[in-house]
Amino acid sequence: MKKIDRETVQKILDTADIVDVVSDFVHLKRRGANYIGLCPFHNERTPSFSVSKSKGICKCFSCGKGGSSVNFLMELEQMSYYDALRYLAKKYHIEIKEHEMTEKEREEATERESMLAVSEFALQHFENNLNNTDDGRDIGLSYFYERGINEASIKKFRLGYSLEKRDDLSSTAREKGYNEKYLVSTGLCVQNEAGKVYDRFKGRVMYPIFSISGKVLGFGGRTLRKDKEVAKYVNSPETIIYRKSYELYGLYQAKQAIVKKDKCILVEGYMDVISMSQSGIENVVASSGTSLTEGQIRLIHRFTENVTVIYDSDPAGIKASLRGIDMLLAEGLNIKVMLLPEGEDPDSFAQSHSTSELEEYLASHEQDFIEFKTAILLQGAENDPIQRSKAISDIVRSISVIPDDITRAMYIKECSRRLEIDEKLLTRQVSKKIAERIEKEAQQRQRQIAKESLNDVENIEQTDAVDVELQDVIQEVQTSQPLVIVDNRDSKYLEPYEKEVLRYVLKYGMLPLCEVCDEEGNTAPMSVLEYVESELKDDDIKFTNSQYARVYEVACSVATSAFENDLAETEKRLKQNYAQMMNDGVAEIQKTATNLSDITMQEQMLESKCNELYNKGLYEFKMMYIVKNLISSPEDVVRHITTDLVSEKYVLSKVHTKYAKIETEQDRLDEFVPRAIYELKDAILECQLRDIRYRIKEIGTKSGNADELMSLMTKTMELQQLKGEFAKILGERIVAPRK
Ligand code: CTP
Ligand code: MN
Repeated sequence: MKKIDRETVQKILDTADIVDVVSDFVHLKRRGANYIGLCPFHNERTPSFSVSKSKGICKCFSCGKGGSSVNFLMELEQMSYYDALRYLAKKYHIEIKEHEMTEKEREEATERESMLAVSEFALQHFENNLNNTDDGRDIGLSYFYERGINEASIKKFRLGYSLEKRDDLSSTAREKGYNEKYLVSTGLCVQNEAGKVYDRFKGRVMYPIFSISGKVLGFGGRTLRKDKEVAKYVNSPETIIYRKSYELYGLYQAKQAIVKKDKCILVEGYMDVISMSQSGIENVVASSGTSLTEGQIRLIHRFTENVTVIYDSDPAGIKASLRGIDMLLAEGLNIKVMLLPEGEDPDSFAQSHSTSELEEYLASHEQDFIEFKTAILLQGAENDPIQRSKAISDIVRSISVIPDDITRAMYIKECSRRLEIDEKLLTRQVSKKIAERIEKEAQQRQRQIAKESLNDVENIEQTDAVDVELQDVIQEVQTSQPLVIVDNRDSKYLEPYEKEVLRYVLKYGMLPLCEVCDEEGNTAPMSVLEYVESELKDDDIKFTNSQYARVYEVACSVATSAFENDLAETEKRLKQNYAQMMNDGVAEIQKTATNLSDITMQEQMLESKCNELYNKGLYEFKMMYIVKNLISSPEDVVRHITTDLVSEKYVLSKVHTKYAKIETEQDRLDEFVPRAIYELKDAILECQLRDIRYRIKEIGTKSGNADELMSLMTKTMELQQLKGEFAKILGERIVAPRK
């Protein structure tokens, strides 16, 4: 590996255009002076990733990641600094002056880089085998030609061949100085029990699998033998560089076409991708035989919202892959489905048709998923009522996973039309499904929590029974640390209090809580979330439950990233409604009213009615804002906890039922939210006190250490005093609740 000289580095940095660089990974849209898109560093559905061409930087307003072109590449593709520079140099055709790395520098290269390096070597080796060895040409190359793959496609997809020898790759690699360790860790070679290393791929045509930035991560190797004795495909195993559920075959070659056509075509196999691409349909990727994963779907979503899934016309296979459709729908993608004529797969179909025929077929045979599912599920049973109702409930389930209300409504309409079912009935069914799912998710969460706390109990018992020798060590550790809460027991103790605070944030976060005054005496409303944020920040409190912490973090980011915009849009819409209603109302009044005072009175009534509706609309928007955003989050934890907490209405936690009635919760936020905060703070104090008591007891059993004992006592007194003050605050609120 080599180093790049300073001058070249500067040249690269000067040339790189951030918009251009980011566009290779993220579908950007122009917004004013900047560009925005879906952040590639975290999962999101509304864009908060912003790129400034003039400043040469990008940044996600939600997760905070970003930086210069180099930072962006390093972070996103896990590249080293020099690799990022090399990538940019290649992109902008800048020649690099490098010097050989020293022994030490070589050692410093990370494992990941070494694995990528050896994979790159293997790629070139297999390519060379295919094109420049007798076996490669006679067997591999002629196989590809026989299947109609031309030279350009072979180059484009970097196809190769592994010789029918057990050490062709491994011994060449060793000669070139590559470490055997990485041959094994990448899965290119296998180590037997005796420690001997030999090639995994032998006598196979090789399909390299690339990351989005074009690094080779792994390979699929297809046998050319017709017999059933050998596996048709041997694939690289899952490794730290090749995480299968986060990669898609062909995406590197397809991504530009996907963005340009604003559509991604999903097929099954390597050959399907290559043949389609060769026929001019370049926006194709494959999930490589495995069923589609969420990670792969999100990868697609970075580039487009439109996906067409192509199925061979094999009914069994189709039924098995219907789940993939629901996953795509749940990610908020617009999905179309296409069936090929009997006996064809995308490869054979592409090979036997011209580009224009192919395009024509694609354009005219895409179906929306309702049409498709209806056809599949009702095949041959159109008049069987039981079959029909099963099919309907299946489609209803699919519709119910769509995150966007409007899209969902659209599909309900479509389904109603197509299956001739009352739209209202369908809407009710879909709502029921959604409710059921929320309920189920909540239950699963509950069960999970119950299970976890059971485990915790076991753990606690174990630590309590820890032997005496160990106690010294424990004490040593404990006394040398500041008073922070890391203890699992504390976390368990604090959990209900944290949950309560989080619940208020999720349910009412954007609602106004109180007015605050600045130094100049101006007042401004403060939202529930703002209040919670400032309270937690003041005392440097973080949620100890990591899941709650994550959900809270996401809630905060939702509130800062898109809220202002969404609010403005909602206000605009409500104002339009207002104007419309006023207009219509006034016209109506003038038609029907009998005299002037009647008109005035009716108009006043109308105005106050419109005002009321406007305010109600705004209030509802704020009230639902965080929940709506989080409940459709792609992150499992966020969705689960949110559904869990907001659907908890009827299972009030103990903390809560002591003091409040649910009916009035919303009206009494100014009382409940501060209380929840103080209860949390009080509970944290309690943990700290417990901790100190434990230490005092520990020290008490030993002689000496009087100084430390004193300081712990003092600390106890301080904390107790603080606790007393909290008790007063809480007490007042508890004793005299406002009616
Ligand atoms: N696959 C695999 N292992 C297998 C069979 C299939 O990994 N034993 C994956 C491969 O990614 C393959 C895809 O599933 O590309 C589709 O399988 P299949 O249709 O059997 O293979 P094709 O790629 O179509 O291969 P060919 O047309 O060359 O037979
Ligand atoms: Mn095939």
